[in-house]
Amino acid sequence: MRKKTILITGASGEIGQALIKALASKNSHQLLTLDLHGLPADTKPLTTHIEGDILDEYLLGRLVSQYDFDAIYHLAALLSTRAEFVPEAAHKVNVEGTLRLLKMAAEQSQWRGQAVQFIFPSSIAVYGLPDLETKGQRKVREWEYNNPTTMYGCNKLYCELLGSYYSRNYRQLAADKPEMLDFRGLRFPGLISAFTLPTGGTSDYAPEMIHAAAQNQPYHCFVRPDSIIPFMAMPDAVTALLKLAQAPRSALSRNVYNVTGFSLTAEAIRERVLQAFPQAQIDYRTDLKRQAIVDSWPADIHDAAASQDWGWQPEYNADRTFEEYLFPNIRERYDK
Ligand code: SER
Repeated sequence: MRKKTILITGASGEIGQALIKALASKNSHQLLTLDLHGLPADTKPLTTHIEGDILDEYLLGRLVSQYDFDAIYHLAALLSTRAEFVPEAAHKVNVEGTLRLLKMAAEQSQWRGQAVQFIFPSSIAVYGLPDLETKGQRKVREWEYNNPTTMYGCNKLYCELLGSYYSRNYRQLAADKPEMLDFRGLRFPGLISAFTLPTGGTSDYAPEMIHAAAQNQPYHCFVRPDSIIPFMAMPDAVTALLKLAQAPRSALSRNVYNVTGFSLTAEAIRERVLQAFPQAQIDYRTDLKRQAIVDSWPADIHDAAASQDWGWQPEYNADRTFEEYLFPNIRERYDK
């Protein structure tokens, strides 16, 4: 019999590396990971890794015939800043790639008569606030301001809808309604990891500022001091993914949930970093285009649905994130 498997796409990215470790420690499934790039030495032994492209139909076909997927964590994507430079390429990876995997998971759910779980990280980039005044007013709920200004935000919002389609209405006119896949999405705020750095995101100023300070490198923050968006520590992001995956399907009232940790301005992050690294040189050189993207994202998001339906609670507030998770681990990393 084929071994039950969890597939992680985009596994070499920030969330992927953290998720591999968490899933490997549970030891319930064989892990299969896919990415254009290889894995770092500390995660390599934990998984069967394939260097390949989610757009490679032949490869996906081969994987389906070899493995019985219980769950797919589809993390592969081009982030928001990078996607603005190559919008059509981003659409290809972010939308067409997701569509192919959804189809693969839908067909597999059908063959085995049991839903494949499809876990999808979405983003605060699906929101587009009209102006700073509106942004400052209150926490945004899932159904409000779904007007993204970036290709990445459009891609994520549309893929959430595709996920709903494949989990509720796929082949709705066929004689026998097929077994549907089980699509679950999370809208993450800016994620900050102590062990990896993001590439091509617009919330990257926060992690970049901290990692630069720890390496004694000057940093020019590309947004204004008053810029505010929500953030989350990477361990909480992994917890959120696993908790959402564990929730009984009957408990879920939505396909996609907001989750958040804490909201801070760029200046508040700078002040915390300066306290920990008094030598840090951090100034502001605003990039108006990236600024406009950050200004269009909410200052805070409402995650009450996630806490009601599946008990979401962040374990890392701002203090714990910086003092217990980021600063000690980042210091150790660069002191080595
Ligand atoms: N952190 C991501 C980005 O900046 C948003 O999900 O693109």
